[in-house]
Amino acid sequence: MKRGRLLLAAALCLSCTPSTPADPEPGDADALDLERMLRQARYAPYQPSELFQDGAVMRRPPEGTVPHDRVTGDPGLTRGVAGGAYVTRIPVPVTLDLLRYGKQRYDIFCATCHGIAGDGESEVARNMTQRRPPSLVDARAQAFPPGRIYQSIVQGYGLMRSYEPQIPLRERWAIVAYIKALGRSRAAALDALPEPLRERARKELP
Ligand code: HEC
Repeated sequence: MKRGRLLLAAALCLSCTPSTPADPEPGDADALDLERMLRQARYAPYQPSELFQDGAVMRRPPEGTVPHDRVTGDPGLTRGVAGGAYVTRIPVPVTLDLLRYGKQRYDIFCATCHGIAGDGESEVARNMTQRRPPSLVDARAQAFPPGRIYQSIVQGYGLMRSYEPQIPLRERWAIVAYIKALGRSRAAALDALPEPLRERARKELP
């Protein structure tokens, strides 16, 4: 063990470099260079300049440059809007799992205001003095394209704040899908239900 360590230390020392040079004394060529760079004539942002053809000192990024912090990808998927219009189809596969996930997220993030049933009936709504959270399942809201609901999550809507930082992309679409299902379930004809569910609904519904 000890021997191993010694060998290692010896090996490391083979690549040792001489100690770094001392800081340059005033009057050194290096120090003068730094001084010159600090004091040289330079442009401030947005200043005009004859140096470039367009007369501006600030350069445009080359065509097609993508900022590293931009969310890229299909805007229909990331913003809910494509070609200036709300997307009319949910752009992820709508599965039973997605709907269950959407319900769980909806109950956490939206139901406090828009109500567990999505009808705008909630404790918060009853106590609001300004505009109340509207129903998300009445005929008016059912006509919303999915992209509109998605956008309200990302951007907020009027008094409602944005939930973009709290709810990631897949969760947003899951919530949208659940709200759509919730709305549809309220207007579903009994005959449209599969047989076992139809029986149960007949017994349990008033
Ligand atoms: C703190 C309460 C609150 C929460 C939580 C909340 N909302 Fe809202 N929401 C509102 C209010 C209030 C409005 C109406 C704002 C206005 O008219 O200025 C609104 C409006 C909306 C609208 C627009 C309806 C229309 O008429 O166009 C949609 C869609 C919506 N909310 C969806 C959601 C979704 C989805 C969630 C969960 C991610 C959510 N909201 C969470 C309070 C809330």
